[in-house]
Amino acid sequence: MKITNICCIGAGYVGGPTMAVIAKHNPDIKVTVVDMNAARIAAWNDSDVNNIPIYEPGLSDIVAETRGRNLFFSTDVDQAIFDAEMIFISVNTPTKTYGKGKGMASDLKYIELCARQIAHVAKDDKIVIEKSTLPVRTAQTIKSILKHTGNGVQYQILSNPEFLAEGTAIRDLENPDRVLIGGDHNEEGQKAIDALVKIYEAWIPKEKILTTNVWSSELSKLTANAFLAQRVSSINAISELCEVTGADVTEVARSIGMDSRIGSKFLQASVGFGGSCFQKDILNLVYIAKSYGLTEVADYWEQVIIMNDYQKTRFAHNIIRTLYNTVSGKKIAFLGWAFKKDTNDTRESAAIYVADILLNEQAELMVLDPKVDKETIYADLDYLKTRAPEENRKLVDVSSDPYEVCKDAHAVTILTEWDEFNTYDWQKIFDNMKKPAFVFDGRNLLDAIKMKEIGFMYESIGVR
Ligand code: UDX
Ligand code: ADP
Repeated sequence: MKITNICCIGAGYVGGPTMAVIAKHNPDIKVTVVDMNAARIAAWNDSDVNNIPIYEPGLSDIVAETRGRNLFFSTDVDQAIFDAEMIFISVNTPTKTYGKGKGMASDLKYIELCARQIAHVAKDDKIVIEKSTLPVRTAQTIKSILKHTGNGVQYQILSNPEFLAEGTAIRDLENPDRVLIGGDHNEEGQKAIDALVKIYEAWIPKEKILTTNVWSSELSKLTANAFLAQRVSSINAISELCEVTGADVTEVARSIGMDSRIGSKFLQASVGFGGSCFQKDILNLVYIAKSYGLTEVADYWEQVIIMNDYQKTRFAHNIIRTLYNTVSGKKIAFLGWAFKKDTNDTRESAAIYVADILLNEQAELMVLDPKVDKETIYADLDYLKTRAPEENRKLVDVSSDPYEVCKDAHAVTILTEWDEFNTYDWQKIFDNMKKPAFVFDGRNLLDAIKMKEIGFMYESIGVR
């Protein structure tokens, strides 16, 4: 089966970059990314590629190369579904905020809406691919909706989880460790799998493309993220032990990481992991385990989240304690708001939760993030519903000038590991801060010796 027309529903952090790279390597396939958010589509179509809605190193170059050639962005969801032979579903699946499974299960209403829309519009056979992170057995749900509400159209459902990390999405897509495709083990299923394999083969060696059954594919995605998050929580657990014993967590991480069985990646102690995937995926895993009565399995994985929440709270409480048990009316500079460097995504960012605790103590915050705008920062705080929106605007201000952000501050906190924070004139920042001048480095980003030489009271994670 030769695919000539692809549609992707959802022009977000996953759909946008993934389709740009598929379009780049398959110039003979028309790729249309659709979204019901008209403002987002308008931004993707902005004549200046620097204004596309997602900041991701290397992405704007690929969009410049492919947009209008074989990559298109549109709000006409129905037309794109109608025209395509292959449809990727790449919509958001946030954790439920209501009803059964509240705070744990993924809200599948957007997925279900997509499936119903496909069933309504399609007139010929389609391959439907779940790309969003989803709980195991979602493919079954999609299949059931398509089968029972369709009009004789044949559907093949594949699971093709995304493993890209934000900030390195283009690198990860161009050169992935593996591509995973789950499908039915029958003749029609195999044909659909082969069609998708062909698209990836345009730039990825065949031996890196794995095919499994649908459920293994879905579960592999949750498991990969759970293992990665577990490493962060494990090293963060050790970081507190280091602080009380005098060991240095960076030395411990280096030492254990040289054991080839352990490996050196994902051992960076931090203020806590964020992002749209880790917490959601583990909560999904926990929810699935619980729903099958596997209490020990559920509790085991839930502890990764509990440790992460504890790390964020511990960081905030340490700031309060160190600043003589009160931050009321004190100015605290926040360097970083995104959940990691090189992205403008703030979902589940540790910065939001640390800020919330300090604001509850009536601190005044001044935030700088190279890629996050003021409105996003206010929206993130408002979403918590801890304070009235006016209160957030009164207590929090935003600037792009580091010297203004840190001026007269009692403390500076590093929440995101942006490279540019290392290029600041820290002597100048010190000179204009209240004394003693504290730095709480939640990313172990700055040079501790240099900071202490300048005169800062410098504290990092996992180092006494
Ligand atoms: C993750 C997975 O890595 C990716 O494969 C999947 O497709 C989506 O989820 P992402 O959330 O974009 O990607 O970023 P990632 O690099 O995994 O970082 C997640 C969080 O963990 C960030 O807040 C990061 O700062 C934190 N982290 C990561 C640490 O605190 N320490 C580390 O050693 C590594
Ligand atoms: P992700 O990180 O998974 O890509 P995002 O929230 O960045 O998540 O993107 C998901 C996109 O999917 C959003 O832009 C949202 O508007 C879009 N979306 C959700 N449901 C639908 C739908 N039924 N039809 C079209 N677009 C949708």
